[in-house]
Amino acid sequence: MTSYGVSIIGMGYVGLCTAVGFASKACKVAAYDIDHEKLALINRGIAPFYEPGLEKMLKKTVDEHYLICLLELEDAILKTDITFIAVGTPSKPDGSIDLSQVEEAVVRIGDTLRKKNKHHLIVVKSTVIPGTTENMVKPLLEKYSGKNCGKDFGLCMNPEFLREGSAIYDTLHPDRIVIGEHDKKSGDALELFYRSFYGEEAPPIIRTNLSTAELIKYANNTFLATKISFINTVANICEKIPGADVKTVAGAIGLDKRIGPLFLNAGLGYGGYCLPKDLKALIAFSKRLGYDPVLLKAVEDVNEAQPNKVVEIARVLLGGLKDKKVAILGLAFKPNTDDIRGAVSVKIIKRLLEEKAKVVAYDPSATDNARKIFRGEIDFAASVADCLKDTDCCIIVTEWEEFKNLQPEDFIERMRNPLVIDGRRIFKPELFEDRLKFAAIGLGQPRKTDL
Ligand code: UDX
Repeated sequence: MTSYGVSIIGMGYVGLCTAVGFASKACKVAAYDIDHEKLALINRGIAPFYEPGLEKMLKKTVDEHYLICLLELEDAILKTDITFIAVGTPSKPDGSIDLSQVEEAVVRIGDTLRKKNKHHLIVVKSTVIPGTTENMVKPLLEKYSGKNCGKDFGLCMNPEFLREGSAIYDTLHPDRIVIGEHDKKSGDALELFYRSFYGEEAPPIIRTNLSTAELIKYANNTFLATKISFINTVANICEKIPGADVKTVAGAIGLDKRIGPLFLNAGLGYGGYCLPKDLKALIAFSKRLGYDPVLLKAVEDVNEAQPNKVVEIARVLLGGLKDKKVAILGLAFKPNTDDIRGAVSVKIIKRLLEEKAKVVAYDPSATDNARKIFRGEIDFAASVADCLKDTDCCIIVTEWEEFKNLQPEDFIERMRNPLVIDGRRIFKPELFEDRLKFAAIGLGQPRKTDL
């Protein structure tokens, strides 16, 4: 419990989940976004996007007046002493980061600081490339406020590590808090806020300079991407070795404490909004500094190629894809979200359409979003059973719980040609391969071998 009041600018995914997480523990949050329709929705307790548990908690925090959206940014700054900037930092067409939303927010915050007599702490939570807070945010704040950073107002960079699908949990139970500080007073103020907020349960707090904090976020996400491309590389090697199985390899190496078991699920590659964008931004940034990050480029190349593998397997096993009816199970970039940004499903479907296959897709929650991309080009089914009906091949693209319980009979009874390609390794091969045509990422062929 804390008596601190904070403002959060930007009610996108990170801003809203952080706001609700803070407000759920009795921290009063004043929220602001330039999209006033979004603010009106939030003030009615309606979440503008799907995230498990978010809407229920949002409604509670709004009803109890811990979270309120203000229509003027100025109010949000003047009524609180700490402001988190959580606006979007999308990719430009060349992969580098688009900082225009940060710039716009900072200029307006600077303008407001001019009118404020009390000390105020500005915290950059948006993912920004190293140097942004020092070289762009600070000068703009000083210029528009007419005040001195470190003396009249404080400045920190505090990256977030929220996963879609568990963002509220991650806000309330972070592995660590990273505080990049412009000056000690700023860092002390943010540490005090977090220590007061988390109490006894406060995780390790790492204090560092602004640029290091900015880089930590990129290093974190690009390491996760590297782990995935690594295990997908091992999966691709496994496929050339009769009887080999990447799942067994991952299980075994994951027991090595130096490696760890997480993010070793081989499959169709990583998607989503963050991992691909952050990797691209770090590559572009690094090149600008005169260093060619060959490892990161390789991680990206492996990931680009990975979704094509299931299309290739389908083509070989079906003897061509023209006019073949392919069922896609899963459209979301990962389970428990309706988000299809960067989803491998989109790449796979586009490839199948290029090959003149007919596609029918089912997803428990992402269908509406996918419909906007593939309007009229593919069919959408209302259930797994509908999706499989009279198809020649089924590709598992997202590992939703609902799909994990499917049995060979579910496919045999409904499909014209029971061929299952498990792109996420959710099925036990031994259960499926004797009953129908079965292929999976990271499974060496032939399967039965004395090796
Ligand atoms: C990620 C980071 O995890 C989070 O810390 C950051 O703040 C935002 O980006 P998120 O985009 O929600 O979170 O997805 P994540 O759970 O990391 O998964 C990313 C992608 O990797 C998904 O497409 C997932 O299917 C894939 N993945 C993950 C694998 O292919 N194999 C794995 O072992 C793990």
